[in-house]
Amino acid sequence: MKYDEALKKVSEYGQEHVLEFYEELSESEKAALLGQIEQTDFSVLEKANEGEKELKRGVITPIPAMKLSEIEEKKEVFTAKGIELIRAGKVGAVLLAGGMGTRLGSDDPKGMYNIGLTKEVYIFERLIRNLMDVVEQTGTFIHLFVMTSEKNHEKTVSFLKEKKYFGYDEAYVTFFMQDMAPASDYNGKVYMENKGLMSASPNGNGGWFSSMKRGGVLDIVHKAGIEYLNIFAVDNVLQRIADPCFVGATALNECAVGAKVIKKAAPDEKVGVMCLEDGRPSIVEYYELTTELMEAKDASGEPAYNYGVILNYLFRVADLEEIVSKEMPLHIVEKKIPYMNEAGETVKPEKVNGYKYESLVLDMIHMLDSCLVFEVVREKEFAPIKNPTGIDSVESARELLKRNGIAL
Ligand code: UTP
Repeated sequence: MKYDEALKKVSEYGQEHVLEFYEELSESEKAALLGQIEQTDFSVLEKANEGEKELKRGVITPIPAMKLSEIEEKKEVFTAKGIELIRAGKVGAVLLAGGMGTRLGSDDPKGMYNIGLTKEVYIFERLIRNLMDVVEQTGTFIHLFVMTSEKNHEKTVSFLKEKKYFGYDEAYVTFFMQDMAPASDYNGKVYMENKGLMSASPNGNGGWFSSMKRGGVLDIVHKAGIEYLNIFAVDNVLQRIADPCFVGATALNECAVGAKVIKKAAPDEKVGVMCLEDGRPSIVEYYELTTELMEAKDASGEPAYNYGVILNYLFRVADLEEIVSKEMPLHIVEKKIPYMNEAGETVKPEKVNGYKYESLVLDMIHMLDSCLVFEVVREKEFAPIKNPTGIDSVESARELLKRNGIAL
């Protein structure tokens, strides 16, 4: 993109200040800034005046879940179907590792975090070992797609290469990068990190499928004949990935998506819960759950909104392709955003100072027609690492791993 075109583009969105120091930049810095402007979607910044307000919701009603007892009864049939699909190469896995992991406080990608005590045990290693269990069970390697972002791509790729993919077959590992979104002050003016770089952050985990498509990775999915993609978060070190029973259950129930859920530990636990919204599958975030919804009971007297999502979903590719070009809701989140002060220095603020703009994978569920809500045993499949200590932390995950017989 040329300077004049860049100026025209930023002017349309009232962001001319990003070019204020252009003349002071070196030739390569100039080119980099013009490139960043070319790739940036500034239209999201127009939402800043709406602030962090909650998105408007439809009518929320309960959704039935397939509970542990029912799964146990049909386990053999489900598992056999899942194994058949995996052996036929119809199932792929997508690791969502584009996040910044700011709460954990490490500068490295979250998956590089060593949770071992007497030996090295990396988060990536645990996830790959979990997937290897299925490889061993089925005798088939499963395509693993790893989503990174501009901020952590190089480190993630070189770490996994150096560790020889923890024993996974390299031919089945594909990396792709998610898009970035500009970060702004409360008035929607994009921050500059330095004179030649706008502040930007990964655009949320909701863009994973469109990023796969844009990056040409969908061609690999098609060529390999993959019909289901199991997406999973980087930070849950206990989750089962491409779990044959879950795959079989979703396929046999002919659902567009399957969602692994856990029974909530307390009515006010901070997890999003599955529901129907205007009759379609959806998720209510914990902060949207009114007292009325929290106290509502279903026909059997159980809490009606009792099943929390753990960011482990099995999507049917054909259905994803139908929704990929539809617009997703944009979430405006208050965050600490590095910016350039008047002296031209980059400042990492102590307090929140503006907005990031993200789309979330949970919004994709509502765009699909049917969802299998599939209960898993919390103590066996849910050990998220968000913080160094306390709830959902390195400490709590270590405890759960030990209880599941994993040496650290
Ligand atoms: P979180 O919501 O926990 O965000 O991500 P985060 O960025 O990792 O951590 P904090 O909030 O800064 O501490 C849930 C999952 O979604 C992925 C993360 O890597 C994690 O697996 N994610 C999140 C992306 O892949 N891209 C994003 O833009 C955001």
